[in-house]
Amino acid sequence: MENPFLLTLSATAAAAGLISVIFVLTWVLHFKEGLAWDGGLAEFNWHPVLIVTGFILLQGIAIIVYRLPWTWNCSKLMMKFIHAGLNIMAFICAVIAMVAVFDFHNAAKIPNMYSLHSWLGLTAVILYWLQIILGVGMYLIPITPISWRAAFMPLHVYSGLLLFASVIGVALMGITEKLIFGLKDPKYKDSPPEAVFVNVLGVLLVVFGALILWIATRTSWKRPSDQILHSLHTDGGGEDNTKVGPALSQLSDGTETEASVDVRRRSNKSDD
Ligand code: HEM
Repeated sequence: MENPFLLTLSATAAAAGLISVIFVLTWVLHFKEGLAWDGGLAEFNWHPVLIVTGFILLQGIAIIVYRLPWTWNCSKLMMKFIHAGLNIMAFICAVIAMVAVFDFHNAAKIPNMYSLHSWLGLTAVILYWLQIILGVGMYLIPITPISWRAAFMPLHVYSGLLLFASVIGVALMGITEKLIFGLKDPKYKDSPPEAVFVNVLGVLLVVFGALILWIATRTSWKRPSDQILHSLHTDGGGEDNTKVGPALSQLSDGTETEASVDVRRRSNKSDD
C-alpha cells in the first residue's frame, strides 16, 4: 500500500501550496497595504489572499484527497463528504474574494468586468458552482441511479481538472495585471524586489498545479476499491488493467458481468 513516489509528490505539493500561502500573505502585508474591509486597496488584497489560500489550495487538496493512502481506511462516503466539503469551502473563499474586488472597484469608481482576467475568472467561479451542484446531486444523493453516476464520472473528472488548471491560469493573469498596475517607480519591467517575489509566487502556483494534476491522473494511485471499479469499466485488456495489479487480485474469477454486479453491490453498501 505504501507508495513512496506518491508520498514524495504529495509532500512536495503540500510544501509548494503552503509556501504559496506564505508568499501571498507576505505580498499583501509587507509589500502592499495589508488587509481590511474598508473599500480601499487593503480590501482588494483579500482577493489574491482568498484565491490562493482558498480557491487554489483547498481545491487542490480536494482533488487528491481520495488518493492519500492514510484515507483509505475511511469509508468512501466519509471521503465524499470531505471532498465535497473542501470544494464548498474553496467556493466560499472564491465568492468572498470576488465580493472584495467588486466592492473595491465600486468604491473607487473603477469599471467592472472589463478585463479578460475578470471574464475568465467569473466564468470559472460559475462553472465551479455548477460542478459542485452536479457532483452533490450525482454522488451524495442516495437515490441517483448508479448507471448515471458511472456515466457522469468521466465528465466530472475532466471538468474538475480543467477548472483547476483554468483557475491557476486566471490567477497568473491576475498577478501579472496587479504587478503592472501597482508598480509605478520602479516599474514592473525594472524588476523591483516585489516583482521578482510575486513572480516566484506564480511559479509556485504552477508547480502546485502540475503536481496535483500528475497525482490526480495516475490510475494506479486510485483508492484500491476505485481501481477495481475502474478496471471493470475499461475494456478488459487495456493499458489500465496492467496497472491495477494487486487490486484486481481481490476480485473473484467470475465473469466480468458478475464481478461488476458484485463490486457495484459492495460499493453501494459500504463504499459508495
Ligand atoms: C479583478 C476573478 C485571481 C488580481 C477580478 C474580477 C474577477 C476576478 C471576476 C473582476 C471584478 C470586477 O470587475 O469588479 C478572479 C478569479 C481568480 C482571480 C476567479 C482566481 C482564479 C486573482 C489574483 C490576483 C488578481 C491571484 C492577484 C492580485 C485582480 C485584479 C483585478 C481583478 C488586479 C482588477 C482588474 C480586473 O478587473 O481585471 N478578478 N481573480 N486576481 N483581479 Fe482577479
